[in-house]
Amino acid sequence: MSDPIVLGIETSCDETAVGVVQGTELRSSVLSSQTEVHARFGGIVPEVAARAHVEAIRPLVHLALSRAGVYSDQVDVIAAPEGPGLAGALMVGYSFAKAMAWSLGKPFVGVDHMEGHLFAPRLEHADYAPPAVVALVSGGHSQIVHMRGWGDYEIMGRTIDDAAGEAFDKLARFMGLGYPGGPAIDAASEGGDPAAMSFPRALRDRPFDFSFSGLKTSVVTQLERAKEAGELAPLADVCASIQEAIVDVIVDKTMNAAEATGVPAVAAGGGVLANRRLRERFQAAADERGLRLFLPTPAMCTDNGAMIAAAAAFRFGAGETTPWTAEVMPGRKLGS
Ligand code: KG4
Ligand code: ZN
Repeated sequence: MSDPIVLGIETSCDETAVGVVQGTELRSSVLSSQTEVHARFGGIVPEVAARAHVEAIRPLVHLALSRAGVYSDQVDVIAAPEGPGLAGALMVGYSFAKAMAWSLGKPFVGVDHMEGHLFAPRLEHADYAPPAVVALVSGGHSQIVHMRGWGDYEIMGRTIDDAAGEAFDKLARFMGLGYPGGPAIDAASEGGDPAAMSFPRALRDRPFDFSFSGLKTSVVTQLERAKEAGELAPLADVCASIQEAIVDVIVDKTMNAAEATGVPAVAAGGGVLANRRLRERFQAAADERGLRLFLPTPAMCTDNGAMIAAAAAFRFGAGETTPWTAEVMPGRKLGS
């Protein structure tokens, strides 16, 4: 018998996204990004996000199905994340998925959004498998996960303040580079000297945890002082140095975790993995240690519906379905 066809709907933050997956095969992945809508406000406005999801979701489901070449009644499972995410935004995708499953007489599977990120590399790398250490770094989360088996996770480290993407976003806003900050700093760092300025790498004594608030304070004070003295470094140097400080910490902590667990493979996901310097540095660190590295393509690093479908395919395969009475859990934590 062929693998079930799973439709995944993702609306936990600012992307409305739908994907179709069969087994580990990616059949389609489409999305409507709200970046431009939120850029006007300098960040994500939850109410605006929820309303934009409502408008985008139905046409995206149709587009994902037609790109995958399947009729809606050929879909075997419909999935959406329960959390973590913005309550109102999550509710749009969750209710839509449940209603669609109910009307088609198909099972509904609610998944953990972070488990989606853990499954994303599986759609592009046939040999991605546990045991592995996976770094999940985005605008809302920074975690290091020891994936002992599919569905068996130990959270080894997390941020004690801002997520890595949030640090990029806040620093870019401070420098007047706009939203989202990660891509802006990535672009502005082109040709810059990553050693031009020296910023702190926090929590040296906690090998798997992150903290980015000290970096933020240091950047603000150093730039203000330099401005007053009329010695402001070129923007490319400032951005390359900030980027290097964030990248250093993410790569170091992930490699610490790989070493501590002795896993043969490392993977990563979340929007910050679209960063070119971070991808380069991960590759170099993995090569140096003889570790296998599984990085999704940038489109699979950021939030998408296919990763939700991939996680749901695993859950459904393990015999799980979600009752119609289930509700979203915006504060849901992986592994709990
Ligand atoms: O995973 P994602 O799309 O959404 C969340 O679940 O948060 O991640 C968005 C985050 C934003 O903070 C954005 O600034 C960051 O990912 N990001 C980047 C890059 N592209 C997106 N950070 C650094 N460099 C990039 N090229
Ligand atoms: Zn995400």
